Amino acid sequence: MRIDKLLANMGYGTRKEVKQLLKSGNVRVNNQVEKSPKIHIDPNEAEVSVHGEIVEYREYIYLMLNKPGDVISATEDPQDLTVIDILQPEDAVFSPFPVGRLDKDTEGLLLITNDGQLAHRLTTPKKDIGKTYYAHIDGEVTSADVELFKEGVTLDDGYVTKPSVLEIVKAGGRSEIKLTITEGKFHQVKRMFEASGKEVIFLKRLSIGELQLDPTLELGEYRELREEEINYLKDITNLTP
Ligand code: URA
Repeated sequence: MRIDKLLANMGYGTRKEVKQLLKSGNVRVNNQVEKSPKIHIDPNEAEVSVHGEIVEYREYIYLMLNKPGDVISATEDPQDLTVIDILQPEDAVFSPFPVGRLDKDTEGLLLITNDGQLAHRLTTPKKDIGKTYYAHIDGEVTSADVELFKEGVTLDDGYVTKPSVLEIVKAGGRSEIKLTITEGKFHQVKRMFEASGKEVIFLKRLSIGELQLDPTLELGEYRELREEEINYLKDITNLTP
């Protein structure tokens, strides 16, 4: 990889700024001053330092965001703030993107990465990865709904959902529920309740497989996934870590 690309990828500025940095003599490769932006290095082999500090090279970034209900799951948008807009510049420099989509008003666990292969495998319908949501429902959710959701719900377009697990957390006219689905059809949770004559008025994703939203993350906060969490995701998508 060209050294100017590596340094730009790691957040040391634009390619032009990095060229200046190299010219200034503040970049060393294996302890030798390197001034050319054109040299190719193996980032896993060479030791690169800037102003005496070693550059920890890595290709991928994996983030867990507690998505707030006023940003959209996209990389850019002409009107709305996106989940990428709220990242720190040192994370945004990796050009990450959201793994799948949550509706604008949905809160909770959203993965953000630049690992296209993992993202693809996590979102492909072929993998039966359970996603658990917590919701407030305008209407009374009953054991009949639990049965219906277990069997499969016919959505407005005729699609019959795969079996899902509905748990009533709080019964009554404003029920609170947890729902685990293994698919990701457009507005799926909202449409499943619509099909049983009820409306979702608050929706939050709690987990993807066994990966839970970190309860210490406030809305809009995020953290990097831990190694074991990344390995878990690779494991359930059959990618060797
Ligand atoms: N189902 C929905 O209806 N909305 C979401 O954001 C996620 C699942």
